[in-house]
Amino acid sequence: MENYVNKAVEQFRTILEEQIARQRKMEADKAYTDYKKLDKIIIGVCGGDGIGPIISAESERVLKFILKKEIEAGKVEIRTIEGLTIENRIAHNKAIPDDVLAEIKACNVILKAPTTTLKGGTLESANVAMRRELDLYANVRPVAVPEEDIDWTFFRENTEGEYVLGSRGVEIPDTLAFDFKVTTNEGTKRIARAAFEYAKNNGKTNVAIVTKANIMKKTDGKFSEICHEVAKDYPGIEAEDWYIDIMTANLVNPRMRSKFQVILLPNLYGDIITDEAAQLQGGVGTAGSANLGDVYSMFEAIHGSAPRMIEEGRGMYANPTSMLKASEMLLRHIGFTEYADKLDKALNICTETEKKVTLTGRNDGATCSEFGDYVMETIEKM
Ligand code: IPM
Ligand code: MG
Repeated sequence: MENYVNKAVEQFRTILEEQIARQRKMEADKAYTDYKKLDKIIIGVCGGDGIGPIISAESERVLKFILKKEIEAGKVEIRTIEGLTIENRIAHNKAIPDDVLAEIKACNVILKAPTTTLKGGTLESANVAMRRELDLYANVRPVAVPEEDIDWTFFRENTEGEYVLGSRGVEIPDTLAFDFKVTTNEGTKRIARAAFEYAKNNGKTNVAIVTKANIMKKTDGKFSEICHEVAKDYPGIEAEDWYIDIMTANLVNPRMRSKFQVILLPNLYGDIITDEAAQLQGGVGTAGSANLGDVYSMFEAIHGSAPRMIEEGRGMYANPTSMLKASEMLLRHIGFTEYADKLDKALNICTETEKKVTLTGRNDGATCSEFGDYVMETIEKM
């Protein structure tokens, strides 16, 4: 037992020093990409696992169609990045094998399909690793249900909290297990700033700060406190504290939910509640997610890799809507607002108003590429 305790204490020291160094680095780092100033924007597309390669190939096809002029003029390049698969990751025993990471880092922006995340073990999630390696601290997830007057934008902290050391907990066999949750000053400041800036630039008047600071007193306590400090720079925007449990109820309370606009929260609460929110919009298959950093950005679906669809031979019927939503957010982020608006409009026509083609996930519905064709035809007509 003594041996386990000593090892754990030693590990805690290492972790603590690393996290202090991470916070210092965040404070010092001023690097920034202005997409408008790049001669060429390089978009990398990672296929991932399960239905990932199918829906990302379709999104790549749609992006190439939309950006045809810019690609021909050499202003945009789209690269397909291979190797972000569970087989390759297990073979290298790395969340993102080094050569794949180098290819990713040679791009400016990434469109990433779902990747398999193993339960237990020590192989870290590719998502979590990518968010850390590219320092993508803001996970922005919009959810809208116009007929219910719902228009939410979630700002989920994306690099720390329960995730940063999620694969590095401590276990004493047959006795106990420990995980770590980390909240840093700088890590909180930057996500809070991103949320309040968004609110200011989009005419929002309310930011809900969601924690469980009554229980997670140190980490969530800090999160709430720092968010309120940042809020002082944004007069006219109300900063309200909510606990995650009641917030989860509020989102399904028709008398409450339309009042929320921007929702700012630590990593794990943001993970959970955005699935709930997406479900209200029509399911996790309908939502895209932006992972933003100062240098890189990555866009993805919020759902998983649906291995069951592949096992049952239904991969070709996978729904690419969320990856196309992610592509729309990508276009908007790198400055192609007009194209983003067109894709958004087309998706709305194809999935809501016209629906000439329906996706059911089975052979009684359209295939992923038939849907892609439909989206492109719709854009062509605009
Ligand atoms: C998400 C996903 C990921 C997360 C998983 C796949 C690691 O659920 O993007 O919400 O927990 O962040
Ligand atoms: Mg999730």
